Amino acid sequence: MSAEGRLLVLGAGTMGAQIAQQAALHGVEVDLVDVSREQLERGVAQNRRLLEGRVAKGRMSTEDAEAALSRVRTSDDLPASAPECAWAIEAIVEQVEAKRQAFGELDRHLPEGAGIATNSSTIVSSRLASATRRPERVCNMHFFHPVLVMDVCEVVRGPQTSDETVARAVAWSRRMGRTPIVVEREIDGFIVNRVLGAASREAFSLLADGVAGVEDIDTAVRAGLNWPMGPFQLSDFSGLDTVLGVRRDRMLREHQPGDEATVTILERLVADGRLGRKSGRGFYDYSTDPPTPLPLPS
Ligand SMILES: NC(=O)c1ccc[n+]([C@@H]2O[C@H](COP(=O)([O-])OP(=O)(O)OC[C@H]3O[C@@H](n4cnc5c(N)ncnc54)[C@H](O)[C@@H]3O)[C@@H](O)[C@H]2O)c1
Repeated sequence: MSAEGRLLVLGAGTMGAQIAQQAALHGVEVDLVDVSREQLERGVAQNRRLLEGRVAKGRMSTEDAEAALSRVRTSDDLPASAPECAWAIEAIVEQVEAKRQAFGELDRHLPEGAGIATNSSTIVSSRLASATRRPERVCNMHFFHPVLVMDVCEVVRGPQTSDETVARAVAWSRRMGRTPIVVEREIDGFIVNRVLGAASREAFSLLADGVAGVEDIDTAVRAGLNWPMGPFQLSDFSGLDTVLGVRRDRMLREHQPGDEATVTILERLVADGRLGRKSGRGFYDYSTDPPTPLPLPS
């Protein structure tokens, strides 16, 4: 199954702008569409900075960078852009109703054979497919932040998704220079976040039980499993308020041992204004180089 034609990316935020640029780096002509002209401009400017950074490091030529940037056409007019596209990836706000509306609009304006994938981390395609007249052509394509760096794309099959659509989503991921993996069922967290969640819950339980400290658990995971970051470093990197939101939400949907320990520790840190790297302090203090571990608030 091959992937051909133009790609439409809906939503030019953190994810959408880079999804569009990643495809363009691999020769795909892209329409990046957003309701906000400001977001489009911000996304394009950020992509330019990222590619100029690659040029400055000698990792790509100025010509290739300019060519890749020029392959992304921006628009706030979905009905005008969609008819020319063969596949769409939706990356708008994480709200079911907004996504259902967007899927309905994409369905009205895309050619009949085009597939529609959502990049959502938590909203599965079976909740969106019925807003279209092509439910068998709808699936999740879950990219990771930052898209220009993180290589994997989880293609998630909904109960309504056809084999052909899964094969096309896999082909589109490859065409975009990303490594696809197929998730055969709509399961909470898909694969990557599920494995990460399990490891992270265990790390928080060990910390709460006093088995080892923050730095030793991080070192164990880095040096013993060869992961690039330990669970507490990664939490600081993602933002502790964000991680707390995800964990609380998950605990309500599917309770697992270790959830309380995770949420309790994170709540104490967030209440203390320790949000991770973005606030300068989290599990570690980032005013020093290298960062130093901080005691947990009581
Ligand atoms: N941020 C992450 O780390 C991450 C990682 C993986 C997946 N995701 C998923 O990607 C999606 C987008 O997340 P994000 O962090 O890029 O969000 P974001 O808030 O940065 O961007 C959302 C964009 O969608 C636009 N938008 C809103 N409604 C629209 C509409 N009807 N039509 C067109 N554009 C519209 C907004 O103007 C904004 O530019 C979410 O579904 C999220 O679950 C996010």
